[in-house]
Amino acid sequence: MGGEVIHALRDVSLKINKGEYVAVMGPSGSGKSTLMNLIGALDVPTSGDLVVNGLNLSGQESDTLADFRNLTVGFVFQQFNLLSRTSALENVKLPLFYARHLGSINAGERARKCLQQVGLSDRMHHDPTQLSGGQQQRVAIARALVNQPSVVLADEPTGALDTKTSVEILDLFQQLNDKGITLIVVTHDPEVAEVSRRNLLFRDGRLVDDVSMARR
Ligand SMILES: Nc1ncnc2c1ncn2[C@@H]1O[C@H](COP(=O)(O)OP(=O)(O)OP(=O)(O)O)[C@@H](O)[C@H]1O
Ligand SMILES: [Mg+2]
Repeated sequence: MGGEVIHALRDVSLKINKGEYVAVMGPSGSGKSTLMNLIGALDVPTSGDLVVNGLNLSGQESDTLADFRNLTVGFVFQQFNLLSRTSALENVKLPLFYARHLGSINAGERARKCLQQVGLSDRMHHDPTQLSGGQQQRVAIARALVNQPSVVLADEPTGALDTKTSVEILDLFQQLNDKGITLIVVTHDPEVAEVSRRNLLFRDGRLVDDVSMARR
């Protein structure tokens, strides 16, 4: 930035086990989104190694990384990032069209099941504009789940929602984690930190605290 070099992340050494539920916290600019983007192979580190689900992300072909993003991780964002003028069902089906190895699965059936899982069976044919914020986030979660990822990465998923709706989304995350999905959630929300079992605290690009809680 100008003449100054900013290390978005540095000297971060971290291991997250399969099935963990981790909250990532820290002030604005501390590197939380950068961490998520690296784990999700949306960004590449200048140095260091990153192994996710047995795949070392450094030096992979772009096709391998595209498959990884499509099949291994599911993304959930603060602003939902749904396609407008496109039904919930079509939004959820979308990642299936990019999945090259799925062969003859029934995309509609798979997407309907995911919408059912997030409690939106009765809203499948609605567009995002016809859905509440909480419902839109559920569609986004269903979309994140449709390729049956091992890891769900959520960057401030409750940041645009009111308290009651946030609690519903957190309940849904808990159900996913109970099913064995690894959850990594960036949050400023103490409620999220409360329900997760491990809190990572970042400051100025460094991991400054890593606290695990006993299973509730
Ligand atoms: N593409 C980029 N180019 C240059 N600097 C960047 C870029 N993306 C992020 N940064 C810088 O890296 C640092 C970490 O940013 P990051 O977005 O990871 O923070 P964050 O913890 O997610 O913050 P917030 O809570 O505001 O979302 C910041 O200083 C930011 O300005
Ligand atoms: Mg961020």
